[in-house]
Amino acid sequence: MSKATKNFLRGLPALFLCCSLTVGCTSAASSSSKQDTAPEESAEPEIKYTIDNIRDYVVGVDEPVELDDGTKRPLINFDNAATTPPLKPAQDAIEKEMKMYGSIGRGFSGKSNHSTDVYVESRDAVMEFVGANPSTYTCFYVNSTTDGLNKLASALVESKDDLILTTRMEHHADDLPWRERCNVIYAEVDDQGRIIYDDIERLLAENEGKVKYVCVTAASNVTGYITDVHRVAKMAHAHGAKIIVDGAQIVAHRKFSMKGETPEEDIDFFVFSAHKMYSPYGGGAVIGPWEILDQHMPTFYGGGIVKIVTDDDVYYKSSPESYEAGSPNYAGVVGMVKAMEVLKEVGFDAIEEHEKRLNKKLIEGLKKLDGVIIYGDSENIDDRVGVVSFNFEDINSYIMAAKLAQSGGIATRRGAFCAHPYVWRLMGISNEEAKTFENCIDMKTPGMIRVSFGIYNTEEEVDEFLKVLGNLIDESRETTKLTADAVPGY
Ligand SMILES: Cc1ncc(COP(=O)(O)O)c(C=O)c1O
Repeated sequence: MSKATKNFLRGLPALFLCCSLTVGCTSAASSSSKQDTAPEESAEPEIKYTIDNIRDYVVGVDEPVELDDGTKRPLINFDNAATTPPLKPAQDAIEKEMKMYGSIGRGFSGKSNHSTDVYVESRDAVMEFVGANPSTYTCFYVNSTTDGLNKLASALVESKDDLILTTRMEHHADDLPWRERCNVIYAEVDDQGRIIYDDIERLLAENEGKVKYVCVTAASNVTGYITDVHRVAKMAHAHGAKIIVDGAQIVAHRKFSMKGETPEEDIDFFVFSAHKMYSPYGGGAVIGPWEILDQHMPTFYGGGIVKIVTDDDVYYKSSPESYEAGSPNYAGVVGMVKAMEVLKEVGFDAIEEHEKRLNKKLIEGLKKLDGVIIYGDSENIDDRVGVVSFNFEDINSYIMAAKLAQSGGIATRRGAFCAHPYVWRLMGISNEEAKTFENCIDMKTPGMIRVSFGIYNTEEEVDEFLKVLGNLIDESRETTKLTADAVPGY
């Protein structure tokens, strides 16, 4: 039985009740003949997307942007870890689906039935993308990784005494939702910024049987390091914990499978955002086991999650609907599923090879620049996605990043990238010192410059970036000296 049918059947009693009572609700509604209602296929020849032609199908790469001197030219966008531009096929898929858009799970019209079918069936496509078996897992939609991890935390944490294990490499999205709800312990990173796996094992053993969830990022948004999440899964499971993986920085960069080589290595929960995989329309997903999700509910209430409400009782549906209160973001889901299709077609082997080539060129070029500091291991670079963060000893990073954008036409990111404890460690800033930055702004806040690659970036862009960066060094050094607020090396 397909998941769409299974979902449909799970939602049937509620649908029946809602319809017979004619009250507004959002149960998983019926499907009708898809052939009757699907938007017309275009007669255009089918395109095969590859790493060599994908740039032609990314929206806005040639859009001119005004620089400080009044000239206009297309940006070099090296800020893809923050967000990615839309793929044209994702944009087109949304436009096409909008012609047949109707209420999801609530209507009787051809449009409503069509949209409901697409929405329900999309869950299978998402689960297939991450190697999750639908007999064990389900998928619910969220707005982003932050939203997904908060929803999970609100559902899974049962008491302030619960114990979560995470790492000092995490983005705040995989730290604060837990920190604000219960006890959290952190595995350390080493001098190069890699997670110390033995520290995870030590913490699990010292707290034998007490850690409920191990929460870890699949790839760092600061150094690009890829975590061996299946190794972490094995450790977590051996000590009675489940594993939750923040997939924000892996989904568009490496083939990811929730399935390990053995069942102990399987990932329990996986969370990601569509805007980091070329579909910036507000989509995201959480994949997790039915069995666990059905025992919990997020603290997020409204329509669509109930079977029936009486004056004094609420009868909730099971997952995934119980995790999706309110009207769904259909466009976000359509774009995300199309982006996944395109990424698969381009191929993760080709994406990996491409990123490694760009990383190598960039790191080799950076090393030649006077006073550069590259964070993380710059010799063994194979365990990194396309993310490289750096600084210059005597240049304020805020000044340099602003010049890169405003006179060089190159978008990078500058700051501590919502991963403060990790960035302080890499920069050698103590916890006590970090507290003194509470009210600092701009140039007084410590930060790094981050380059992060997308599938459409080119080696020529890296060459251009290195040239522009090199040309800006003297000027930025001088501006740093002359600007009272600028802290060199920050
Ligand atoms: C590793 C990691 N986790 C979580 C997030 C949060 O993602 P979002 O802003 O899409 O919620 C980010 C965003 O940069 C990230 O890099």
